[in-house]
Amino acid sequence: MPRSEWNSARASSVTKRIAVLLSGRGSNFQSLLNASQQGVLGGEISLVISNRPGAGGLKIAQEAGIETALVNHQRYATREAFDQELATVLDATQPDLVVLAGFMRILTADFVTRFSGRLMNIHPSLLPLYPGLHTHQRALDNGDRCAGATVHYVSGELDGGPAVLQARLPVNSGDDADTLAARVLELEHRIYPVAVNWHLSGRLTWDRGELLKDGLPVPATGEVWEDLP
Ligand code: GRF
Repeated sequence: MPRSEWNSARASSVTKRIAVLLSGRGSNFQSLLNASQQGVLGGEISLVISNRPGAGGLKIAQEAGIETALVNHQRYATREAFDQELATVLDATQPDLVVLAGFMRILTADFVTRFSGRLMNIHPSLLPLYPGLHTHQRALDNGDRCAGATVHYVSGELDGGPAVLQARLPVNSGDDADTLAARVLELEHRIYPVAVNWHLSGRLTWDRGELLKDGLPVPATGEVWEDLP
């Protein structure tokens, strides 16, 4: 085999690295970890960073033997300084993908640009509906008949960037924000590993223009999740 081909074959067999940023309980991180341990994520979680010392997700990572870092936003005078430290910690592990999993900080434009195309988020609404907080209550207040969750690449806009994968469910007549959140969260746990796998296996292409999957345009709402294995 010519040396260049050998090199590319070797490169493609290297395990992909995922870094997770979280602030809270970490149930989405747990679902990614489960998928990784089952060998269906397409990579391994090599680092978990929290901005909060008491985040449940940190404990999950430590118990699983995953490297953790605490970058406490309260110790940084500015958002820029906090994001700079985050970027430095991330760069040390050279992640193929940075996954936001309940990370409750708005990231600066510099940070987003630095990790553009390898920065994903999950949001508990049918984006572009309801960016920001209290998504379920807003859906109920609006009388929506459907709710759901969306995985998207991160752009400079809050909960913006092209949608990759979206899952929907019907709103029940007796739903309140908590019951709806719980049902949507189950969907989140199913779709995030799928979207991460698509990224790591090179099926998604986004160069700040159109998002493609397997070379074909992804709808503005993202691919619609069906019972994918
Ligand atoms: C999820 O609902 C996610 O969509 C949102 O934050 C929540 C995080 O939950 N971005 P968890 O910490 O993953 O359990």
